[in-house]
Amino acid sequence: MNDAAKEEIRERLAIEDVIGQYIDLKRAGRNFKGHSPWGTDRTPSFMVSPEKGIWHDFSSNKGGDIFTFVMEMEGITFREAMEKLAQQAGVELKKYSGSDKAIAARKQRLYEALELSTKYFQTCLIRNKEVCKYVFYQRHLNRGTVETFRVGYAPMSGNALTNFLKKRGFTAKELEDAGLVNRFGGDLFKGRMMIPLMDQGGRVIGFTGRIIDSSIKDTPKYLNTPETILYNKGRHIFGLSQAREAIRRSEFVVVVEGNMDVISSHQAGVREAVATAGTAMTENHLKAFSRMTNDIRLAYDGDEAGVRAAERAISMASKFGIYLSVIDDYHGCKDADELIQKDPKLWQEAVQNYRPAMEWILEKYEGQYDLKTEKGFQEYAKIAKQLIDQIDENDTVLREKYERMVSKRLGISLEAFRAKKVKKEPKRLKKAVGVVKNTTSEISRAEKNLAALMQCGKVNLSEEIELPKMDKNELELIFEEQYGTWSAGEQQREAEILRQKVESERLEMKRKELEERIREAEENHDEELENQLLAEMNELIRKK
Ligand code: UTP
Ligand code: MN
Repeated sequence: MNDAAKEEIRERLAIEDVIGQYIDLKRAGRNFKGHSPWGTDRTPSFMVSPEKGIWHDFSSNKGGDIFTFVMEMEGITFREAMEKLAQQAGVELKKYSGSDKAIAARKQRLYEALELSTKYFQTCLIRNKEVCKYVFYQRHLNRGTVETFRVGYAPMSGNALTNFLKKRGFTAKELEDAGLVNRFGGDLFKGRMMIPLMDQGGRVIGFTGRIIDSSIKDTPKYLNTPETILYNKGRHIFGLSQAREAIRRSEFVVVVEGNMDVISSHQAGVREAVATAGTAMTENHLKAFSRMTNDIRLAYDGDEAGVRAAERAISMASKFGIYLSVIDDYHGCKDADELIQKDPKLWQEAVQNYRPAMEWILEKYEGQYDLKTEKGFQEYAKIAKQLIDQIDENDTVLREKYERMVSKRLGISLEAFRAKKVKKEPKRLKKAVGVVKNTTSEISRAEKNLAALMQCGKVNLSEEIELPKMDKNELELIFEEQYGTWSAGEQQREAEILRQKVESERLEMKRKELEERIREAEENHDEELENQLLAEMNELIRKK
């Protein structure tokens, strides 16, 4: 889809009309103002500039043009937003579809290779009796489910897939780019039940393959496509294309741990289930969910990894106004899949039997400490305080609810608990509460404000700092709104403060990333990597 079509749509539609369909806008000078659709602002903090054709939401720090607005509001992809707006504008997209980019063409080839692979794997499944036994009788998938999720089989022998695709005209490079080959250029997946990973529109972007013959050692149970230009692990949500309709209808989403849990859940009639890769829920995932619903139910294992994952999600959820809850009634089963095998009804009940994540996690910790001992009492108080501190400051009601709950458990006054001072995050690395942040595409509020001051104000920084590229118009709007009436001196001081803030934000982000990687290394029992990462961490802390 090309820029000419975008321009044409932009010219034909007034931004205030497009946004006005979703939000009440009032004129304020040259701009329009309204209440943020994502925040809980008391005074209108959502701005639209018709002249610049952009919007900016000061309460959530989001901004963009009509396309990004519709994407955010409707939880749809760029392509879908484009189609929707093209229709409103009466622009025929077909006229513009003479694709202008080589990248688009290259991606198209990869989609084709992956689509063909999917069909190939599907055929191999039907032809292999043993594998059918595994899929239909051991995993109890039915025909409909196997078709919906396009389950297949990657043969054991030779380089079956690679040879097949090469015969169809795909180059070695293309197969590598699609993430289908091992480092010798042969088949990456062998002897595995194949589950395609799809994008939101249902296009295949990669695979996960489960080993079928468990007597084969020295190979992981699941093997996934490496990251490619189509598959981004930190953004991908397994099962979303199949679950989307149900999520919108029921207005909740169930996040389970494994891909097989998703598939079983759909078969059991709970089609709101999706999974992120392992329990590594990122901000990107949460954002994607929050565009569809604010009722997110985590169904992770109650083991330590599950608790930590829930803990990480809590700290992110509060920022996005999400009701995060936990499903943990597994009737002694290991995961959703096992529970469903026992009785699908139990799972259907379980997803309606959810509890606020904060309540759940406080209880988990309560069970871990002996409150009768001084040590247990202190440690629990500390961790409870740290958890509650993650609730948005403005949400005084929710904070008080949990503050009361904990202080009552501890037998102390609400005031004493509130007054307790703790460091923001536990320093023990082993249980680090890390957030995986998208380092490249997230531009922080401080970065935006600083860029606005540097671009539109009279500012000379004492030390240079590199800032990501940002939209000029958006920066102008930010500047006018926030600093338009400030003196040069005030702007200068603000800029210096912001520069320091950006620098410490970046260090913090690096630290969190490292923490996350250390946690992963630890979970994978990769001591060598863990030690190396810990050394990096020490280095970073020294810099601070
Ligand atoms: P589990 O080991 O709990 O597997 O890993 P599972 O989902 O219950 O799988 P089945 O029922 O034995 O087939 C949970 C998730 O962690 C990831 C997969 O996404 C899996 O679904 N995983 C696990 C891997 O990526 N690689 C592995 O080797 C193991
Ligand atoms: Mn399982």
